[in-house]
Amino acid sequence: MIEADMDLKSAAILVVDDEHANVVLIETILNSHGYEYVYSTQDPSQVLGMYCQHNIDLILLDINMPVMDGYDVMAQLKALDDPCLAPILVLTAQYAQDFRQRAFDAGARDYVTKPFDVNELLSRVQNLLQAELAQQYMRKQNDILDHRVLERTVELQMAQQQLHENRLQVVRRLGRAAEFRDNETGLHIIRMSKIAALLGRAAGMNDEDCDLLLNAAPMHDIGKIGIPDDILLKPGRFDADEWRIMQSHVQIGADILSGDDSRLLVMAAEIALTHHEKWDGSGYPNGLKGEEIPLVGRLCALADVFDALTSKRPYKPAWSEPDALEYLVAESGRHFDPNMIEHFLALFPKIASIRHMHSEPVCDEITMQTRGGVGLSFRQPVNRLL
Ligand code: C2E
Ligand code: SIN
Ligand code: FE
Ligand code: FE
Repeated sequence: MIEADMDLKSAAILVVDDEHANVVLIETILNSHGYEYVYSTQDPSQVLGMYCQHNIDLILLDINMPVMDGYDVMAQLKALDDPCLAPILVLTAQYAQDFRQRAFDAGARDYVTKPFDVNELLSRVQNLLQAELAQQYMRKQNDILDHRVLERTVELQMAQQQLHENRLQVVRRLGRAAEFRDNETGLHIIRMSKIAALLGRAAGMNDEDCDLLLNAAPMHDIGKIGIPDDILLKPGRFDADEWRIMQSHVQIGADILSGDDSRLLVMAAEIALTHHEKWDGSGYPNGLKGEEIPLVGRLCALADVFDALTSKRPYKPAWSEPDALEYLVAESGRHFDPNMIEHFLALFPKIASIRHMHSEPVCDEITMQTRGGVGLSFRQPVNRLL
């Protein structure tokens, strides 16, 4: 194949005619008009081989030949099933209308009757070659474009994957950072988000959303980063001011997580903002009611409270599972979405196993290696290190 921007005269032309005199005549005409690569044969059975060998751009084909005629040759070429087959210019003494139609049907692009006018032959050759070269050029450009698109698509996918992983990294670290403020182990957010995703599946969320929930839920309390230690870690009850400040952790969290339109962070911000809303409208910060509360907020509220109740906090001991369950059931329709409570009860064996799989270490005062090898006493506030 040749470049479109190269001279037409560099095109490869194959001349097929059983008559020696015709072959010589056509070759001479073409050569004398500057066509450099003219191949020829008097044996039609050679055409296929020569066509493939010389990257032919145009075939001048006689029809009436013994043994194998021009139609047979065209049938052979057609059988190559090459969408880029070179154009065929038929040369023949026959000029009847039905012959032309048959030639076109067989795959001819144009025809010239013999004896031919030299200029007519030359202009047909030139036209067909120009069209052919333009097509070759387009195909080549398309190939280049396809290749670039493919490259870019792969790059983009890799960049998106990287972005997604970076986000997950940041988001996990953020979640852990908040967690370290009032809970050294980070296990609460693991249990809580697994329970939330389990409830999400039961509530009809699809795989992708459950996965998002699993990754977004750990950030629900990221806003605790903005709560002073003396409030967050207070061993006793809050006064009104302290409680107001503590409640601001939901808005602080939503602010931290806003400004990125990835589905992960949009969901995380929604959870941060709404995980303390209550079904009866008595929650904060907006007093949303019932289904005004986003589903993920309702799911996380239940998962969070269950795990908070059954965990030890700076301000309270851990509750037993039956006590926590009794509380959840009593709060059905008040704090919690009654449908979620039903799912929770149905799934309780699985929820209990999540809790036990990620249970807190039994030691309370043992010095342990945490966070980059710094030795800490397990119940000692770790926030000084943040
Ligand atoms: P948290 O400790 O992770 O608790 C999450 C949620 O679980 C609480 O949200 C509450 O709905 C439920 N919960 C936890 N412990 C108890 C409990 O002993 N009884 C009952 N009925 N529910 C409980 P809430 O109340 O909106 O509190 C949000 C966060 O504020 C808490 O997260 C905790 O960090 C802090 N907090 C709440 N009350 C106190 C307190 O009296 N002292 C201190 N130091 N922090 C508190
Ligand atoms: C939690 O705080 O969520 C559980 C860990 C603990 O308090 O021991
Ligand atoms: Fe919270
Ligand atoms: Fe929580």
